[in-house]
Amino acid sequence: MVILYTVVYIIVMKKLQVCVMHRGGPSASCGAKGSQEILHHLRAEVERLELPCEVESINCLLYCQQGPNVRLLPDGKIWHKVDAQLCAQIVQKLKDDSDC
Ligand code: FES
Repeated sequence: MVILYTVVYIIVMKKLQVCVMHRGGPSASCGAKGSQEILHHLRAEVERLELPCEVESINCLLYCQQGPNVRLLPDGKIWHKVDAQLCAQIVQKLKDDSDC
């Protein structure tokens, strides 16, 4: 039974991964472009709206030049150059998905 619950949880539960990799110097990295603030903002919004989604940090999604990057699992959708406007779109998608 535990295995069944685990499988259902993995299939149903969405997860937002926010890249927070921070490389020093002039190299591109999401952390150097403010992704920690994005992480905190998305976590706060998901909690405030009680959306069925985890928000976690991750180190590098291999789109460093296009950061800050956020990935939604299990969909696999990746948002690039995430800013406040895109955060609102991401939260709206989670809201829409949770209304299904
Ligand atoms: S540093 Fe964020 S995708 Fe590589």
